[in-house]
Amino acid sequence: MSHTIRKATADDAGPLAELAAVTFPLACPPSSSPADIAAHLANTLSEKHFQRYLADPETTVLVIDADGRLNGYSLLVNRAAADPDVLSALTLQPSVELSKCYVHPDYHGLGAAAELMHASLRAAAAAGGAAAWLGVNSQNARAIRFYEKSGFRKVGTKSFQLGSTVEHDFVLERALP
Ligand SMILES: CC(C)(COP(=O)(O)OP(=O)(O)OC[C@H]1O[C@@H](n2cnc3c(N)ncnc32)[C@H](O)[C@@H]1OP(=O)(O)O)[C@@H](O)C(=O)NCCC(=O)NCCS
Repeated sequence: MSHTIRKATADDAGPLAELAAVTFPLACPPSSSPADIAAHLANTLSEKHFQRYLADPETTVLVIDADGRLNGYSLLVNRAAADPDVLSALTLQPSVELSKCYVHPDYHGLGAAAELMHASLRAAAAAGGAAAWLGVNSQNARAIRFYEKSGFRKVGTKSFQLGSTVEHDFVLERALP
């Protein structure tokens, strides 16, 4: 795949929402209901939400752009975590949250995700982070393996509400160079 990794712009909000609709379900456990997934997409990952993320000075969105088609994205949040479970788990501060890291399934296993991760970690360090942290569903074995390969280690757990279900996430952290 020939592609570049770049910072997203306001024009990317629509394609990002389309990509999120394909990739978010892949991060959910098999027991998640389609209605809960659809509600989460509508409530946090619509074009309108991406417009807000892209306008937020504490948020950075990176995209994998293959000749105008978006094949992956990450979203970094550079503000102190609000969740007390996360705060008590983190061992390094200041820590930038890698809030989202998603690659289109056609490009899994091809190294694109690693490139996106490297760019995301560089952006987190450039934003002043001494560390990066993320939450990942405890059943998402592929992503957990990917994050471990990327230098993250488990430091705690947190809850994640998907519709009426409380999911259990691992909290992972890594130091930044
Ligand atoms: C997470 C994601 C970005 C990783 O990208 P990727 O291209 O799949 O990552 P890689 O192929 O480099 O690494 C995945 C690793 O998991 C392994 N793996 C695959 N399926 C697995 C499974 N069911 N259980 C355990 N490990 C698994 C792969 O073999 C590989 O490890 P290896 O390189 O040691 O062989 C991508 O899979 C993705 O977008 N997934 C859907 C969305 C998602 O879950 N995002 C994360 C939300 S927190």
